[in-house]
Amino acid sequence: MESSKRQQALLAAERLKATGRLASEIAHELNTPLGGILMYSHLLIEDLSEDDPRRENIVKINKLAHRCKIIVQGLLDFAHQEIPQSGPIQINRILRNVIGFLEDHVLLRNISIETHLDPALPRVAGDENKLEQVFINLIINAVQSMNGTGTLRLCTEFAVDTSRVRIECSDTGCGIDDENLGRIFEPFFTTKEKEKGTGLGLSICHGIVERHGGTIAVESSKGHGSTFTVFLPMAEKDISDCGFRNAECGFETPNGKSK
Ligand SMILES: Nc1ncnc2c1ncn2[C@@H]1O[C@H](COP(=O)(O)OP(=O)(O)OP(=O)(O)O)[C@@H](O)[C@H]1O
Ligand SMILES: [Mg+2]
Repeated sequence: MESSKRQQALLAAERLKATGRLASEIAHELNTPLGGILMYSHLLIEDLSEDDPRRENIVKINKLAHRCKIIVQGLLDFAHQEIPQSGPIQINRILRNVIGFLEDHVLLRNISIETHLDPALPRVAGDENKLEQVFINLIINAVQSMNGTGTLRLCTEFAVDTSRVRIECSDTGCGIDDENLGRIFEPFFTTKEKEKGTGLGLSICHGIVERHGGTIAVESSKGHGSTFTVFLPMAEKDISDCGFRNAECGFETPNGKSK
């Protein structure tokens, strides 16, 4: 990477870190009073009869507070410094699960899904729910970018040289403007209409992947689609196991049994 590009990448990483710290502080401060608004508005709704004219406004307050709570939770997820729970995770299985439960969604009706999942992919150390959230966010973004038709491609591969698992999520959607490309991982950056996007999806992905010791990057060309690439370190256990890599569950031992 040339030096000015490296400088820019460092600056962007610093900015993201500072934003993360700020986001986390704000989210913590807001979380408690927001819980109070939710609880008291809920109690008021219960106290009012169905035909009370004040009910409608209080229901609105409660709904809006719910939306705020989702945003605050998103910020906490983005900024949370906790080390993720660590178990050996099979990324191919996570991807199949995610596709399984998104497949019937109306948005995916005319989207063709191609998968190239390395059957000999080693496991990664991580938190299954959090990693699932990463791929749900990436897939939903990809699908939204295609506006109804196109191809979603999911590939996994073992990068032997770095002992990392590589996961690629590509779409044939609208692509991302050069000027936006450097900002998409910032919290609250969105090009979607209000109510459609909070702009937290990718910042959460970035936070989760980083806390797993991995990286996430994007390549995009306006009008031709985007590719998000995630690298995650393989599980220690799989590194220390001897034998030949085989099957999704990790390694095959010399006697041929999968672990
Ligand atoms: N696959 C993609 N194709 C085109 N643009 C994308 C893609 N993924 C992300 N983007 C751009 O990055 C922005 C930020 O994405 P992010 O997931 O953080 O937020 P969002 O999708 O706008 O809202 P949210 O995820 O909170 O519902 C999007 O608004 C969009 O402009
Ligand atoms: Mg999103």
